[in-house]
Amino acid sequence: MNIWDTLSRPFFILAPMDDVTDTVFRQIVGSMAPPDLYFTEFVNVDGLQSPGRKMLLPKFQFSEKERPIIAQIWGKKPENYYQTVKELVAMGFDGVDINMGCPVKAVIRDGCCAALIDDRELAGEIIKAARAGALDGARAVKGKLSLPHRFPISVKTRLGNKQLDMTWPEFLLQQDLDALTIHGRIAKDMSKYPADWGKIGEIREMRDRLSPATKIIGNGDVLSRPQGLELAEEHGLDGIMIGRGVFHDPYVFSTDSPWVDKAQAEKINLYRQHVELFAKTWPNRQHKIYTLNKFCKIYINDFAGAKEMRIRLMAARSTQELLDLLDQ
Ligand SMILES: Cc1cc2nc3c(=O)[nH]c(=O)nc-3n(C[C@H](O)[C@H](O)[C@H](O)COP(=O)(O)O)c2cc1C
Repeated sequence: MNIWDTLSRPFFILAPMDDVTDTVFRQIVGSMAPPDLYFTEFVNVDGLQSPGRKMLLPKFQFSEKERPIIAQIWGKKPENYYQTVKELVAMGFDGVDINMGCPVKAVIRDGCCAALIDDRELAGEIIKAARAGALDGARAVKGKLSLPHRFPISVKTRLGNKQLDMTWPEFLLQQDLDALTIHGRIAKDMSKYPADWGKIGEIREMRDRLSPATKIIGNGDVLSRPQGLELAEEHGLDGIMIGRGVFHDPYVFSTDSPWVDKAQAEKINLYRQHVELFAKTWPNRQHKIYTLNKFCKIYINDFAGAKEMRIRLMAARSTQELLDLLDQ
């Protein structure tokens, strides 16, 4: 038994998005319409096990309101995966997810994330190292924390690196993973073409044959809960992950979103709540104020004068200045 086994099908997950889904935004989404499971932003294990560690730790910050929560990691060296996963168990995460899908050029050049699709040997070693870290981590905290039976390990990936490659999910489904999230695109295509949900369905069929206990989660272009439910039903999936949909509608996980009917004052007030929580959570400016700009676009939108207001708000140099402007 672990956290994946406790979720009822089809479950909904807030996708990991770097510099977006930190503890503040996860709490905000949770206060509107919570998903069934949260992921952290991806955090580099090689950086974590280096003198740069302190800079990365805020990405692992979470509150009890954000449970269940999975920590997402990426990197190159298996020994750093081992050590990091051991630490994640002690930090109280509900599981760990390994990013094997990020298509960013610098990351791929370094042999990480989607590059692992073409390096099965290293991908296998990384999963093995993570599993060893999970076991040793659980042993180390035994008695101090009530742990699930097994600290779960999952992978989030794409349909291929430079081309569609169905031998990749076949390989992953032989690694005894607790869950596998498939973003229905290849890395080379970034987000250029629509996600291929037919292929995600084929991977679910492959799962039925090769690894019935592994949960399959589909990801790509879902903009509402009803749309996600339809896709889960059509392709027999265990879960649906939604990322950018939350930019169009912060209530994306609700059955009947009230977002289109929100008045200007309500939207401004929601942004105010977001800025206040940001200021409270990062009192020493651990996160730069400009990272709020992408959220500004979510709330300050779709009303007369929104664009001009955004320009003024995005120029603010402190959270206090931002709050003063919102008061006006
Ligand atoms: C700004 C941004 C940051 C992202 N950061 C991550 C990340 O840290 N880890 C990850 O696995 N995927 C990351 N992704 C990919 C998303 O998790 C998701 O797979 C992708 O956006 C497709 O889903 P969507 O169409 O629902 O957004 C990121 C995407 C965006 C837009």
